[in-house]
Amino acid sequence: MTRYSRITGTGSYLPPRRLTNADLAAELAAKGVETSDEWIVERTGIRARHFAAPDVFSSDLAVEAAKNALDAAGLLPSDVDLIIVATSTPDMVFPSVACIVQNKLGIGGCPAFDVQAVCCGFIYALTLADAMIKTGSASKALVIGAEVFSRILDFSDRTTCVLFGDGAGAVVLEASDTPGILASDLHADGKNVGILCVPGHVSGGQVLGSPLLKMDGQAVFKLAVGMLESTARAALDKAKLTEADIDWMVPHQANIRIMRSTARKLKMPLEKVVVTVDQHGNTSAASIPLALDVSVRSGTIKKGDTLMLEAVGGGFTWGAVILKY
Ligand code: ACO
Repeated sequence: MTRYSRITGTGSYLPPRRLTNADLAAELAAKGVETSDEWIVERTGIRARHFAAPDVFSSDLAVEAAKNALDAAGLLPSDVDLIIVATSTPDMVFPSVACIVQNKLGIGGCPAFDVQAVCCGFIYALTLADAMIKTGSASKALVIGAEVFSRILDFSDRTTCVLFGDGAGAVVLEASDTPGILASDLHADGKNVGILCVPGHVSGGQVLGSPLLKMDGQAVFKLAVGMLESTARAALDKAKLTEADIDWMVPHQANIRIMRSTARKLKMPLEKVVVTVDQHGNTSAASIPLALDVSVRSGTIKKGDTLMLEAVGGGFTWGAVILKY
């Protein structure tokens, strides 16, 4: 019998501190940085984001999302035999957030590791977990995206600091004799490192280079739409489906204009595109599992729906997953 992997539970967690655009604009104004709700909504679709308290780490958000996903799947932490966390804002240089999450869940022994593919991290992590389940290395995986991007924002740069938020989303991916994940398509191209990066690194007890995010927004925008279109088409081909077979597109929530442009190129009706960027901002690797969980819990996405998840992120990295929910 063919062995597939299938999502059996979703969960998410947002830190309680929510800032509307007006709240953020007021905080920035106090530092002499000018922005407005109108500018942010028009250029990005973002209306609010959540920021974690200074003593809260990616692992803390990840654990809450993981517990919610396990509850939804009807599993206990002790049932889990693989943990993959997609993050670019780990608690520390090492060990991985996944190992910290494992310990906070009160379990040990199963493989646990992080995936670093920035905003495409969850697509990479889900693809890896699917492969490990299909080859028999795991049968009940926790796949998590968790970020505290507020830690790496330059609040003197209004072109980037208004875009991002903190949060976590998780899925339980289980072995199944029915699909599940139908196809996956992954890519990377390191020549674009410079247009979206946090260049700083730790050396000899110091941080060398800037530890804050820098981005050429227009260059990112241009690359992103083409990459998302091509990976979506490649994943559809691999799944032997067309865009008409997709019930819901769950894109990385970077910017409403990128999502709309991609949907238009794919000839997908905008009503089929899940949008949470308005409430969460860009939560990088957490954005897709967060959007997925919100849509599942609201009843928008139902069992049996065919979904297309897709993302592009720093690196550049880009990819898509097609699945039967
Ligand atoms: N508030 C008010 N004004 C602003 C702000 C702000 N927050 N930010 C920039 N401006 C001003 C600029 O100073 C500029 O003013 P000027 O014309 O007087 O010089 C004007 O707005 C236009 O600036 P641009 O940078 O040209 O604005 P643009 O229309 O390109 O929008 C944005 C910027 C939203 C970043 C856009 O380029 C974009 O969406 N890029 C995609 C990047 C993205 O989504 N990245 C997410 C991370 S990557 C990922 O997840 C895939």
